Amino acid sequence: MNVSMILAAGEGTRMKSKCPKVLHKIAGKPILSYVVNICQEVRMDKNVVIVGHKSDQVVDYFKDQDLVFKKQPTGQGVPYGTGFAVMQGQEEFSDEDMVYVLTGDTPLIKEETLRKFMDYVDYHQQAACVLTAILPKPYGYGRIVRGDDSNILHIVEEKDASVRERAITEVNTGIFAFQGGPLKAALKELDSNNSQGELYLTDVIHHLVEAGYQVGGFTLNDEREMLGINSRAQLAVCEGIMRERINEAHMLNGVTFLDPSSTLVEYGVKIGQDTVIYPGAILQGDSEIGQACTIYGNSRIVDSKIGNNVTIDNSLIEKSVVEDGVSMGPYAHLRPNSHLEEDVHIGNFVEVKNAHLGQGTKAGHLAYIGDADVGAGVNIGCGVIFVNYNGKEKFRSTVKDGAFVGSNVNLVAPVVIEEEAYLAAGSTITKDVPSGDLAIARSQQKNISKKMD
Ligand code: UD1
Ligand code: CA
Repeated sequence: MNVSMILAAGEGTRMKSKCPKVLHKIAGKPILSYVVNICQEVRMDKNVVIVGHKSDQVVDYFKDQDLVFKKQPTGQGVPYGTGFAVMQGQEEFSDEDMVYVLTGDTPLIKEETLRKFMDYVDYHQQAACVLTAILPKPYGYGRIVRGDDSNILHIVEEKDASVRERAITEVNTGIFAFQGGPLKAALKELDSNNSQGELYLTDVIHHLVEAGYQVGGFTLNDEREMLGINSRAQLAVCEGIMRERINEAHMLNGVTFLDPSSTLVEYGVKIGQDTVIYPGAILQGDSEIGQACTIYGNSRIVDSKIGNNVTIDNSLIEKSVVEDGVSMGPYAHLRPNSHLEEDVHIGNFVEVKNAHLGQGTKAGHLAYIGDADVGAGVNIGCGVIFVNYNGKEKFRSTVKDGAFVGSNVNLVAPVVIEEEAYLAAGSTITKDVPSGDLAIARSQQKNISKKMD
């Protein structure tokens, strides 16, 4: 069996945050979720996550996933360190299992890299294998110390390294494979006689070599994959790299970005072919954009489904559905649970909330359409307000196919406007309007002459 052990119990003090480090997000998803995902993608037989600092929040985030959580005890006098973290998961693997240790704070590691590493491990059948990288500036990482025959002898942490060891550019990525039996035996040998007073997992390597085992090393091609997140600055670096990767993948699939570096597409967003995205767009969450759409300027789309041939200009769309051929904006806002059917147009400063607009309906300017069922081919004039709230409760209104809602009309909900009805400009509509009728609800104009008789 292959068992992954993902270390995520560290305090992350350098983040200076109330949020556990591994729940900080890059490209919209927690750092830890990337490592969890690739372990699931490569089909590990079991995935164990070691949690500690604010573990409840971490466990809660992943509660729907098939993961085994092990809590690392924390507190004064309790040991600390990556070796101690792995000890917490010892009951989860047998002597015959292969244990893959990964760190939860390195989200850029790629699935294909882990696969290659696993192939290497399967082929060589060694007691342990380290995924290493060559870094021109290895500062901060554990260095790989090899013997004259180039076999790995041990790993030395930056803080414990001699000047000569610090000059070594081959570093420990923090990803290892261990045979269960030898790992358990070597964990027993760990002590905290080091500059940080911690139980280092890296010392396991030295104990295995002493016990006569050979330790393999597999080196990463792209060292950016091992970048760890220990600070906000590193968080920003990883965000940038992940953004680049995501946007490149979309471009390979036929999406145009005028300026990929200023376009934020979160992990998991889907975009159809021939869609063109202008600088400043932010596409978030569980969103899906169709084919041949154009998204201009500071548009933000969150958890929404957009059809094909849709134009969105400087608009905000939240948890809504937009069908083919719709045009929106500039400065339109779809609040949650809105649905625009085909060829709807909503223009400048139109806000829609919890409303359904039928095919071809238009609201060109300055309107609020809240809690409404609007049919097809309806014209909603400038300044129309669906008055949905009396201060305590909300009510829905219905406007049926082909109705004409003149400018500055107030529709006081609940009210039903039947098909082809015509609401005169400036009316405050409080009663239902039958099909085809003209409703006028405004005071009559009186012209008072200035002339005295
Ligand atoms: C560790 C390695 C170092 C390597 C680097 C790669 C050790 C001693 N050092 O250093 O050789 O180059 O990773 O990124 O292993 N964790 C726990 N419990 C703990 C301590 C840490 O679960 O008690 C987790 C952290 O949440 C983190 C991971 O282990 O995800 C690594 O810990 P961190 O303190 O960041 O180790 P580094 O100093 O980066
Ligand atoms: Ca780290």
